Amino acid sequence: MSRQYDKLEQCYAYYRSLTGFTPKVGLILGSGLGGYAKNMEVELEIPYRDIPGFPVSTVQGHEGKFLLGYIGSVPAVAMKGRVHYYEGYPMEDVVLPTRLMKRMGIGILFLTNASGGINRKFSVGDFMMITDQISSFVPSPLIGENVFELGERFPDMTHIYDRELMALIERTAQEEGIPLQKGVYLQTTGPNFESPAEIRMYETLGADAVGMSTACEAIAARHAGIRVCGISCISNMASGISEEELSHLDVQAAADRRAGEFERLVTKSIGKMGKGRDGYEDKDL
Ligand code: HPA
Repeated sequence: MSRQYDKLEQCYAYYRSLTGFTPKVGLILGSGLGGYAKNMEVELEIPYRDIPGFPVSTVQGHEGKFLLGYIGSVPAVAMKGRVHYYEGYPMEDVVLPTRLMKRMGIGILFLTNASGGINRKFSVGDFMMITDQISSFVPSPLIGENVFELGERFPDMTHIYDRELMALIERTAQEEGIPLQKGVYLQTTGPNFESPAEIRMYETLGADAVGMSTACEAIAARHAGIRVCGISCISNMASGISEEELSHLDVQAAADRRAGEFERLVTKSIGKMGKGRDGYEDKDL
C-alpha cells in the first residue's frame, strides 16, 4: 500500500474517531465564500491542524477547517480554506483533502474559486460555470505510485464536469435570476499573477478564466469516481485584458462583494443534489 494511502487512512481514522457523519456533497470554498458557514446547519467543525498529516494552508484569508452539516437537507462537508500548490506542498498533498472527502462518503464535489477573466465578453463580478479545464501547466496530482484503492492508473477525463450537475446549476441560476457565464478554467502554479503575454497565450489555447487552484482537485476527484461541478467568480480581468495591476487584496475584495449571490447560487444548487429531491437524483448515493 502506498505512503499516500497510509496518510489518507490516518486522516480518515481521525475523522471517524470524531463522528459517524457521512456527507454526500463536498464543497470547496474559494475566495469570497469565506463566510459560507452561515448557509449551513453546521454540526461539527474540524480544524485542519488537528488532523494528523493533513496539509495546513498558510495563505491569509484561507483559514482552514472542515465544516460538517447540512446544506438544505443535504448532508455536506465544506472546506473553509484550501491548500494551494504554490505553498510548496506536493500535488499529492494538495489533493489529499479531496481524497479524504471521498473517504468521508461524498459522491459529488462542488468546486468554487475566484479567477481572472480572459474571455473579453466577461466582466468583473460575473460567475462562470466551469465546463472544462486546462491543467497542462501544473503537474498532475496522479503522478507517482497509483492509489488503486481510489482509482485506476489512467483515468478518462472526457467529461470532468458532470453534465447533469451543470444542467442543474444552469437551471438553478435561471430560477434565481443570477446571470451565469460558462467557460474553460486554466490552472497555473501561481503565486505570481500572469504576464500579459502569458494571458494572450492562454486565450489562444481556449481558456476563459485563469486561477491557481481547482483543476488538480477536479482530476483527483474524477480519479476517485466523484462527480464534479464548479463555479468561478471573475474577481478581476486577467493581466493585460485590463490595464489595471493585480493585487491579492483587490481580488479578495471583488470576490467578497459578490459573496451574497455566490452563496445563494451554491446553496440552492446543492439543495437539489439530495437523493430523490426535485431535479436531480444521484443514482450512486
Ligand atoms: N490570475 C490567477 N489567479 C487568479 C486571478 C488571476 O488573474 N484572479 C484570481 N485568481
